[in-house]
Amino acid sequence: MSQSEAARQQQETRQNWILRAGAWNEQADHLARLARGLNEPLIAAAGVAPGRHVLDIASGVGEPAISMAALVGPEGTVTATDLVAEMLAGTERRAKDQGVTNMAFQVTPMEELPFDDDSFDAVTCRLGLMYTPSPERALGQARRVLRPGARAAFLVWGPKADNSQFGIVDRVLGEVAGIDPHEGAFTPTRLGDDGALNKIFQAAGFSAWEEQELRFSPRVDLDSNFWRPQLALRLGARLGEMDDGERQRIDDAMRQAYVELLDGDRVQLRVHARIGVGTV
Ligand SMILES: C[S@@+](CC[C@H](N)C(=O)[O-])C[C@H]1O[C@@H](n2cnc3c(N)ncnc32)[C@H](O)[C@@H]1O
Repeated sequence: MSQSEAARQQQETRQNWILRAGAWNEQADHLARLARGLNEPLIAAAGVAPGRHVLDIASGVGEPAISMAALVGPEGTVTATDLVAEMLAGTERRAKDQGVTNMAFQVTPMEELPFDDDSFDAVTCRLGLMYTPSPERALGQARRVLRPGARAAFLVWGPKADNSQFGIVDRVLGEVAGIDPHEGAFTPTRLGDDGALNKIFQAAGFSAWEEQELRFSPRVDLDSNFWRPQLALRLGARLGEMDDGERQRIDDAMRQAYVELLDGDRVQLRVHARIGVGTV
């Protein structure tokens, strides 16, 4: 990919996340609770422990960065980064509200990290690598800033077919609102195939790499309208621009799609995430 094409895509991604930043900020605490099950294996895979200096990439509105700040303790530090200032502002605000004092915040693309070589003990990234047009470059930067022997752990969504929510949201938005699921470089499951992360770690020059698979089968109450937060995160400001009729049509179609997954009195969802772990 040419440099100008990469810059164009990065700008598109930035605009895309600016549109969603309001919804992510509003739902930050709810999301932090919901996604705890992703944090624990990711943080363990990167070898984060008390006293360590950790870089978190694509921190969004704060996880796993804020949880890691508690774990590394007063002798350690967590540097939270993101391409989009409006997203990272949520991390800073939430860290401040929680009285966290061992964090730093830096707006930066993951492909051009403004840190010295060998300056971190661990790198983490939860659900961010899919949004760069150059994942090899991003991992090359992660490797450069890690000290020898340290680990980087990047968590991504698995394939769309294994994540019921992405399949349903994409289908409903396409059919009811004519929205292309890949618009604005938004393809959260694009690195989800078995082996995809391994190839990128290898290409980025890590000395060892492996993939871990995480699967969950949450059972949720249809009447809780659990898809509404997800729709708000997906559509961002656009949802507010729709008229009531269109919003209602989307909501009805989402409910109908989930009725098809009812198992007894609950909707049975499938979630698949993968962690790529590389050692410098
Ligand atoms: C799905 S959110 C994940 C946020 C958080 N880590 C979490 O798990 O809740 C993806 C984040 O990636 C950021 N992002 C997208 N492209 C990026 C890039 N090239 N460099 C750094 N951050 C990027 C977005 O701004 C957004 O905050």
